Amino acid sequence: MTDQRQRFALIGTGNRGTTMWGQNLLEGWRDSVELVAICDTNELRAERARTMIGSNAPIFTDIGMTLNQTKPDLVIVCTRDSNHDDIIVAALEAGCDVITEKPMTTSVDKIRRIREAEKRSGKRVDVSFNYRFAPTAYKLKELLASGAIGTLTSVDFHWYLDTNHGADYFRRWHAYVENSGSLFVHKATHHFDLLNWYIDADPQTVSAFGELRNYGAKGPYRGTRCKGCEHASYCDFYLDLSADPFLETLYEDPSDLDGYVRDACVYREDIDIPDTMTANIRYTNDVVVSYSLNTYMPIEGHHIAFNGTKGRIELRQFEKQPWERPNHDEILVVKSFGGGVERIKVPHSAGGHFGGDDRMRNMIFRGGEDKLGQRAGSRAGAMSVLTGIAALQSARSGTTVRINELGDIG
Ligand SMILES: NC(=O)c1ccc[n+]([C@@H]2O[C@H](COP(=O)([O-])OP(=O)(O)OC[C@H]3O[C@@H](n4cnc5c(N)ncnc54)[C@H](O)[C@@H]3O)[C@@H](O)[C@H]2O)c1
Repeated sequence: MTDQRQRFALIGTGNRGTTMWGQNLLEGWRDSVELVAICDTNELRAERARTMIGSNAPIFTDIGMTLNQTKPDLVIVCTRDSNHDDIIVAALEAGCDVITEKPMTTSVDKIRRIREAEKRSGKRVDVSFNYRFAPTAYKLKELLASGAIGTLTSVDFHWYLDTNHGADYFRRWHAYVENSGSLFVHKATHHFDLLNWYIDADPQTVSAFGELRNYGAKGPYRGTRCKGCEHASYCDFYLDLSADPFLETLYEDPSDLDGYVRDACVYREDIDIPDTMTANIRYTNDVVVSYSLNTYMPIEGHHIAFNGTKGRIELRQFEKQPWERPNHDEILVVKSFGGGVERIKVPHSAGGHFGGDDRMRNMIFRGGEDKLGQRAGSRAGAMSVLTGIAALQSARSGTTVRINELGDIG
């Protein structure tokens, strides 16, 4: 019997590549995929990742060699955001399907490049929007589609990153617009994608603020990195890499090769992304959204409410908080005109992103019915990035930005 498994190359062996698309993919979906190549510009990180993944796939440091020598069917892209396009386009041109980590990319020109290559090649780009697969997201989408609150008119959506997770973006390459497009693109791509999916229309205009209030040049003192820092004993953001064997193994020695340290100072003066962001978005179906993203909170999670002509749906979901919480989330569906409230309990499920990572891999590798359109392609990847690009442009210019004036996305 011939082996039907998809032969895949893993590009980028940082945390996400090594765990989600390395260890975990092979643990759960070995019947669907075979890892045939590992590629990272940092050879030592790739070697360490290969050991963690438990593979004997050959290692490459260049996408061209990876594709030429191993001829994969599928390429999974886990590099930094700003070079996703180079890897995606090379993979499509070599006749491979692609799964790319979010954000799909960081600029309008790069979006167009990817979409044109996808059309030329006839291959498929999947974008890893795992939050669509969280049980609460599924339930919210189902409720909205059923017309539970009449016509949707506005959405309140606020996302909170805590002082561990939020700070992590300021320790690394994400802290520069050039690499990540800012958190309006890098992080909010998840949130803007959820909005686009829930609202079922395209974003049209964006008006935003983005300020750097807590990290970067706003810091009270600074060093270059936490390891050996003179401020270590009293800095709230001190990260002891040696206390985390996973991070230490994957990043510390490999940093000698490329200077990519995992614990760079969050107060570096050249950080150029906002840490405190708000945006108002208007959609083609006249729905308006009030959105915010904060990166130094004592909690992690989000609050979302959908307001309609016949009621309101509300969810407050905590991912980390300094108190006990039940093993479920609660969605409130409140009907107008004395219609009362329905309290829908949604049990937590195990695994990353409330089990969304597993469900997304099942959808991609095992197929099955996609009743609510959860599987996301390059258009969804593009639309959420465009919202982020528009938000950053608006925050910088003080003007309202029309998305269809940003340029042709192919
Ligand atoms: N979907 C999610 O929930 C989720 C969660 C975390 C990260 N991500 C995404 O995954 C991607 C990787 O994130 P990470 O935290 O693992 O980053 P990371 O910095 O830890 O790892 C990136 C790796 O890519 C390598 N690399 C950079 N340029 C390369 C190139 N041209 N060719 C080959 N290798 C290259 C780097 O050496 C590094 O090892 C990012 O796009 C991020 O947004 C998604």
